[in-house]
Amino acid sequence: MINILITEFLDKQVLNNLNKDFNIIYNEEIWQNRDYLEKEIHNFDGIIVRNKTNLDGSILEKAVNLKYIGRLGVGLDNIDTEYCNKNNIFVQPATGMNADSVAEYVVNSSLILLKKTLIVSDQTRKGNWPRNTIVTNELKGKTLGLIGFGYIAKKVFKLANSFDVSFITYDPFISFEQIESFNLKKVSFNEILKLSDIISIHVPLSEETKYMFNKQVFSKMEKKPIIINSSRGGIINERDLLDAYSNNIISGFALDVFENEPIDEEFYKKITKNMNCILTPHTAGVTEESNTRVSNFIVDTTNKFFQSLKD
Ligand SMILES: NC(=O)c1ccc[n+]([C@@H]2O[C@H](COP(=O)([O-])OP(=O)(O)OC[C@H]3O[C@@H](n4cnc5c(N)ncnc54)[C@H](O)[C@@H]3O)[C@@H](O)[C@H]2O)c1
Repeated sequence: MINILITEFLDKQVLNNLNKDFNIIYNEEIWQNRDYLEKEIHNFDGIIVRNKTNLDGSILEKAVNLKYIGRLGVGLDNIDTEYCNKNNIFVQPATGMNADSVAEYVVNSSLILLKKTLIVSDQTRKGNWPRNTIVTNELKGKTLGLIGFGYIAKKVFKLANSFDVSFITYDPFISFEQIESFNLKKVSFNEILKLSDIISIHVPLSEETKYMFNKQVFSKMEKKPIIINSSRGGIINERDLLDAYSNNIISGFALDVFENEPIDEEFYKKITKNMNCILTPHTAGVTEESNTRVSNFIVDTTNKFFQSLKD
């Protein structure tokens, strides 16, 4: 019998498509029960998680029968992938399955921040008429700097193209030829800071990208850009971001991800109504449509993985 543990939300209808021969334990709250995981993980051949279940080395050491981890999402920073590689545990992310939702979030946030929609709407709802007092802008003609040019950044590129935007990207792991075949320019990190009107971040969280955006980096921005982070918290130093906003170095920001999630009181208490910003609870990639796609994909690949062990 193959034992599968599901520790976070999985679309219930899709759950029924998991192989009927599996013995399945599904409890979307188990991710927070470390004791349960430590005691029981040795029983499971496969585990399906989102981003809240912490599968670090010390818990994986106890998972002596584990062969497969299905990740209902993309980032793998909650899984010790090095341990998995060394110990023959296959890790399956739902690569690309929520990319459309995140890309829409980025374009939507760019428009809302350029048009200061939240501030203008708030004022008008109060009976004010800020027709000439709040300056708003078009997306057309702006330079959009993409930090990282992976799956999601490519979707943003495709979507925003119809707005007549110029694109530049910083991704040291992708060749000039590959990037230029998309008809956008590969630039250095300093150039992207200097030239962008909008900076959208699409890199994984790693030792290298931790606090990639800090005080010194903000100080190199020349066009008062809008900053959008839908990748991972911790890539931006939140205190330095707020300082950059207060000091007029950036003109707005959209954050879907935070250094601590749920959001820290210390951070959200500093956000005032007249700030040009959008804060969302790590939901850029979580729409009804993407949830179904992600769940279908992981259920399907889980079935195939265990079938391939039998064949
Ligand atoms: N907010 C959400 O709901 C949500 C949903 C999906 C993905 N994400 C996050 O979005 C991010 C991007 O996802 P993706 O699927 O496009 O990933 P991806 O792996 O396809 O692309 C990441 C890109 O970043 C580049 N990169 C890595 N380190 C870099 C560095 N130091 N400097 C510049 N570039 C670097 C890589 O070369 C790669 O091209 C990830 O952090 C992922 O966890 C968030």
